Amino acid sequence: MTQARFVILAVVAVVGAVGVGWAAGKLRPAPAPAQPAAAAPLAPAANRGEVLFGVYCASCHGPEGRGDGPSSAALRPPPRDFAARPWRFAVTRESIRKVTLDGIPGTAMPATRNALGPADADAVADYVFGLATSRPAVPHEPTEEEAILQAAGFTDLRGTAPPQLVVADTAGKEVKLSDLKGRTVLLHFWATTCVHCVKELPHLKELEAKLADRKLTVLHVCADADELAEAQALADKVAPGLRVHADASGLGPQRFEVQALPAVWLVAPDGKAVGRATGMRDWAAPAVRKVLERGW
Ligand code: HEC
Repeated sequence: MTQARFVILAVVAVVGAVGVGWAAGKLRPAPAPAQPAAAAPLAPAANRGEVLFGVYCASCHGPEGRGDGPSSAALRPPPRDFAARPWRFAVTRESIRKVTLDGIPGTAMPATRNALGPADADAVADYVFGLATSRPAVPHEPTEEEAILQAAGFTDLRGTAPPQLVVADTAGKEVKLSDLKGRTVLLHFWATTCVHCVKELPHLKELEAKLADRKLTVLHVCADADELAEAQALADKVAPGLRVHADASGLGPQRFEVQALPAVWLVAPDGKAVGRATGMRDWAAPAVRKVLERGW
């Protein structure tokens, strides 16, 4: 009797074990079908620029790059419509990529260097370039800052880093542009053979004195000085007390893309460029004074 009961229990146990095994077999994941699954991940990658734009840019620039994202209303300057011209920076993939990674200091445009790797930056720059060039251009209404710079004949360079510059005076005393942070710096590229440049020297000296309380420094970088002493002697005659400088490397004017003289670059106290202008100007004119007296 005892033995018979044992046999019955053993049969039940075997049947139970087979049942569990069968159920477990059902639960195992089915092998993935090879073909359709392989194609799936490619679809989002093809639009990676668009996806990244949606995540990082659309809140300000709007889903189609029209400058109408939900966060745009309160921004000064506002994000512009990518189809608007002129742009502040060049409408090229390379320039868009740089702006995307570096941001624009002094505006809401953020740097994304920590969020986007090189491939993602390429993808988003390509996508923005497409948004910028696929619709007919619309005229851009200048912002207040742009209008101020334009009225004084300055090209808007706000937010860009100026080239490095080290100059020295006749005594060999060096001045580095990067050491002048905290001051507004006007770089005046001039030459002894440039009549208009020499005419500007006394006016610029006066301007520097007038705006001393605004921490304006004017650096007169002489472009044709083989003998800086000669340039200083000329300055002593037309604007006594004014110090002139020369760039030790001799490449300053080229690095600052000076095509004609006189030329000026305005650099803000944070060390970033504000704008540049070519040709003689009336340094007492209200439009010009507005550029120099305004905090950038
Ligand atoms: C928080 C808001 C904000 C976000 C997010 C933002 N931007 Fe901007 N962006 C701006 C503003 C504001 C300006 C305009 C600055 C100006 O005109 O001085 C700007 C300007 C630009 C410009 C320069 C256009 C020109 O005129 O030269 C480019 C290019 C640009 N943004 C691309 C991007 C890309 C790409 C992203 C996403 C990775 C992005 N932005 C995210 C606010 C934003």
